[in-house]
Amino acid sequence: MYDVLAMSKDVTSHYTSGDLFDRLAAALRDDGADPDRPTIAALAPYDQFHGRGLEATEDVANLLSLLASDHVLDVGSGIGGPARYVADRFGCRVTGVDLTPVFCEVARSLTTLLGLDDRVSFEVGDALAMPFADGTFDAAYTMNVSMNIADKDGLYAEFARVLKPGARLVLSEFARGDGPEPDYPLPWAQTAETNFLTSVEATRSGLEAAGFLIVQVRDTAAESKDFGARSKALVERGEKPPHRSVPLIHGEGAAVMMANSSRAVAEGRTVPVEILARKRG
Ligand SMILES: C[S@@+](CC[C@H](N)C(=O)[O-])C[C@H]1O[C@@H](n2cnc3c(N)ncnc32)[C@H](O)[C@@H]1O
Repeated sequence: MYDVLAMSKDVTSHYTSGDLFDRLAAALRDDGADPDRPTIAALAPYDQFHGRGLEATEDVANLLSLLASDHVLDVGSGIGGPARYVADRFGCRVTGVDLTPVFCEVARSLTTLLGLDDRVSFEVGDALAMPFADGTFDAAYTMNVSMNIADKDGLYAEFARVLKPGARLVLSEFARGDGPEPDYPLPWAQTAETNFLTSVEATRSGLEAAGFLIVQVRDTAAESKDFGARSKALVERGEKPPHRSVPLIHGEGAAVMMANSSRAVAEGRTVPVEILARKRG
């Protein structure tokens, strides 16, 4: 049996270090951007905290195909890059929920600087007990979050509870592949204590049991490898890689985390996947 409170603290402390907002401002200045007037494009290398950065968020947004009238939920919203991108692209309202308080603070500050705070908001909370009424949202997505959550059935039941009938749900995450566990640390987990990968089949059947129809499952390992190769080529030419959120958040430890994650994908020990589901009804 897991100690849920202790695990939440371990997850939160994994993502909390130093003054994140100051480090982000310094990184933006180094890029020649104004940290007081950031743009979605200037923030994209830093505020998309998942493999393939903005490219993966664009894929999720394509699957969601939203209307301006939709109210969308981002579960495990991090510092808010995906939520701001989705709100900006579709003109819709997005609410994020995240366990890590400092991420929600930074997410709110950046959203205010971008002038999106009338449509994008963030709540500190647990995906397993979301602070929202039943049937609140027209659509939901989650990017690289479920790997930190042991109770998958509880997570899927919460998605089903807060979504309206017929709503779309997109999960973009790492599934468990073949062979041994990945090596640690990983960008989302220091040790096996906070890493909970399930197979695609288990995710599929868990979502179905919670009341979802699976519309599409896509293995994005090829895209991940291609993104890694393009990043490596840029670095070899002396340029910055397109995705810099892991070094921003984890500092010196980031290189080992990213290498472990890339190797796990290359060896098929983890499988990056996008799953589109629809709530029955
Ligand atoms: C790798 S980050 C991804 C952040 C964001 N989805 C993105 O892609 O930019 C994982 C996020 O999941 C959050 N998280 C982990 N477990 C959670 C839980 N049980 N409830 C809510 N958020 C959680 C962490 O605080 C962290 O912000």
